Amino acid sequence: MATDKHIVLVPMIMWGHTRPMCTFAARIVKLRPAMLVTMFVSEGFYERAKAEIALEFQSGQEHLQSRITLIRLTRATSPWDSATYEADFLDTWANFSSGQPLCGYEANGNPRQVDPSERDRFAAAVIDIFAIGAFDTFRKIKETTGLKVYSWFPAALTCMFKWFGTDIIPTVREYASRTGVSFDVAAHEVLVVPKGELVDSPCLPKMYDYEYHPQAAFTSVEFTGHTVVHVNRVLRETDGLVTIDAADYITPRTSEAVRTWFGERPVYFAGPLVSPVRASPDAFAKPEAASIKRFLDDRMASHGAKSVMLISFGSMFWPTNAAKVGAVLNVLMEKNVPFILSRPTSAAQIPEDVTTKLAECENVYIANWVPQQLVLSHPATGWCLTHAGLNSTFECIFASVPMITWPIDADQPPNVINLTDELKVAYELLEGRDGYGLGMIHRTGVTPRGTISAVEDELRDVLVRAFGADGLAKRARLHELKAKLQKAWEVGGPAREGVETLLDGM
Ligand SMILES: *[C@@H]1O[C@H](CO)[C@@H](O)[C@H](O)[C@H]1NC(C)=O
Ligand SMILES: *[C@@H]1O[C@H](CO)[C@@H](O)[C@H](O)[C@H]1NC(C)=O
Ligand SMILES: *[C@@H]1O[C@H](CO)[C@@H](O)[C@H](O)[C@H]1NC(C)=O
Repeated sequence: MATDKHIVLVPMIMWGHTRPMCTFAARIVKLRPAMLVTMFVSEGFYERAKAEIALEFQSGQEHLQSRITLIRLTRATSPWDSATYEADFLDTWANFSSGQPLCGYEANGNPRQVDPSERDRFAAAVIDIFAIGAFDTFRKIKETTGLKVYSWFPAALTCMFKWFGTDIIPTVREYASRTGVSFDVAAHEVLVVPKGELVDSPCLPKMYDYEYHPQAAFTSVEFTGHTVVHVNRVLRETDGLVTIDAADYITPRTSEAVRTWFGERPVYFAGPLVSPVRASPDAFAKPEAASIKRFLDDRMASHGAKSVMLISFGSMFWPTNAAKVGAVLNVLMEKNVPFILSRPTSAAQIPEDVTTKLAECENVYIANWVPQQLVLSHPATGWCLTHAGLNSTFECIFASVPMITWPIDADQPPNVINLTDELKVAYELLEGRDGYGLGMIHRTGVTPRGTISAVEDELRDVLVRAFGADGLAKRARLHELKAKLQKAWEVGGPAREGVETLLDGM
């Protein structure tokens, strides 16, 4: 029956993976109000997920919100604990398969159970590429019920080939048996640890392997062995790809390369999946948000429009070299640039002498949680120093705030090349690299000096350009890019058309 198709969504535990999936879930029921969505979410992000979904609805649309059911996975204790999260999903699903209902809440907060009889009626599942066990579970169900199993690609698509383009498991097995190390260690050695080799990917300039890890290794050995090396198989077996990347963000060369790789199977560009920020009266109502707004209003008065820098490395990343973080913060204070620093945990290191200076500086605001979109949309905010995860990148673009980038790992380094070289809407702090990430940059032939004084010199130079004519030109280009990307979800836009095709084909 075409009317009440039921779809399952399984993100990986990370907020950066879950956040856009919340927006995706909301847009599904907005486009097709008769559909039902059951989405899994880590307990730690449940409240945030509900809030993110709510951003998509106006009052009077509660009936649509109730089409989405959130099932909480409670066992993992940190966003790094993807193994427990996945085991929790598998147990929960096994219980569901053996006749227990799935207990959760509608996105508007009402309790809701999914009846076990639904199990064989699901039209489709959209599964995070990293949720390998969940993917395999739904592939089995597919054998009897015929549901479609799609993969969710929560990152910049340009990095697909380097990380997941080839099946390296035979190489890993061979390496493990030759050297006597475990499979996980072998996987890490083969895929992550740089050898100084040039990587040629169909959608990026040639890069040395270490350029993908500008902060030296960040991915854990277990995650590489349990998860990352299996994604290639998932991509070979999936019925199609849904990516948070945007058709008009990547160049035709990349989308062609990706479509060619998938052959007959569809690739849908669902991005940008960023909800509109509504400057509603209660947006800044939480005490923390209210004091951030006061800080921004005050800097607006003292320093003027577009004077403040937001500094954020997302919810999971931070530069490896604390002295370099200190150097950057020192230069900002020296140059009288006001900033808001998002420091998600105390594990995010800042040298002690700098911490003392920060506490004394009235142009500095530090918080472990920052309402990023609200800050970006405030007129006092002019720049964002960011790790350049795709989520943050799209938020900066939508707020017309250009970027100073300090990529850490994952898809960030490739994403930054585009932001700086192709789209020319950002700078990169090359001297912020660390460890083997400090090797020569292939496309420029430059080797960062990597010292603290080099970090300071580079940032001083970037600030002069950012707050001068070059910065204005970047802002203008960003504005054009924003206008283009905003059309993605309008009628006839590539994301909306793609997702409609996906939903109708289930
Ligand atoms: C992604 O976006 C949300 C707002 O929509 C923001 O609060 C969050 O910090 C961002 N997450 C990451 C991982 O950057
Ligand atoms: C599965 O069901 C068993 C028996 O009712 C229960 O003890 C267990 O906690 C359930 N597991 C999950 C993850 O809900
Ligand atoms: C990034 O640049 C490469 C070419 O160097 C291009 O193929 C790719 O599509 C670009 N992506 C973006 C986001 O501009």
